[in-house]
Amino acid sequence: MPNPMEQSREGHLSIAPWSERYETGIGILDLQHQELFEFIETLAASFREGAATQKIRLALKFLASYTVNHFKTEEAFMKEMGYPSFMAHVAEHSQLFAKVRHFQTSLMEGEAITMEVAAFLADWFHHHIEDMDMDYVRFARAQDDALALARGEAFAGVFNLDDFNLGVPE
Ligand SMILES: [Fe+2]
Ligand SMILES: [Fe+2]
Repeated sequence: MPNPMEQSREGHLSIAPWSERYETGIGILDLQHQELFEFIETLAASFREGAATQKIRLALKFLASYTVNHFKTEEAFMKEMGYPSFMAHVAEHSQLFAKVRHFQTSLMEGEAITMEVAAFLADWFHHHIEDMDMDYVRFARAQDDALALARGEAFAGVFNLDDFNLGVPE
């Protein structure tokens, strides 16, 4: 579990603190995971400040887009190395994305969404990284450490910010 006492610079509790336990050792994936945690913090800050719906909508949209990008990177990596639990992992990614879309739809329909959304996302990513992501990392290491990790690094250049708006509702 993340350290519940971790404080942000502004003095409030951090909802998605980074920890070494989430480090995969694969540069691009660690970077994406860290950025995802930061975007969850941004979303949490929007709720905390009682930000306007428009600001929350944008924070959620950016988080959704970045999540798509991250899942695509990770799925390409798993496929490339022939990871046996690929389908189960993709299914879990799809479930999360469906949930994010549901939050976005609720917001568009005028429903108030709350800090619980940021808390849900933080909890989901903490558990998913520790359980599912670390499993393909173990597989990669068992296969061919240097080669698999190098391939992970190679994906760094495959996806970029231009991919962000794929299939994400306004
Ligand atoms: Fe991940
Ligand atoms: Fe994953």
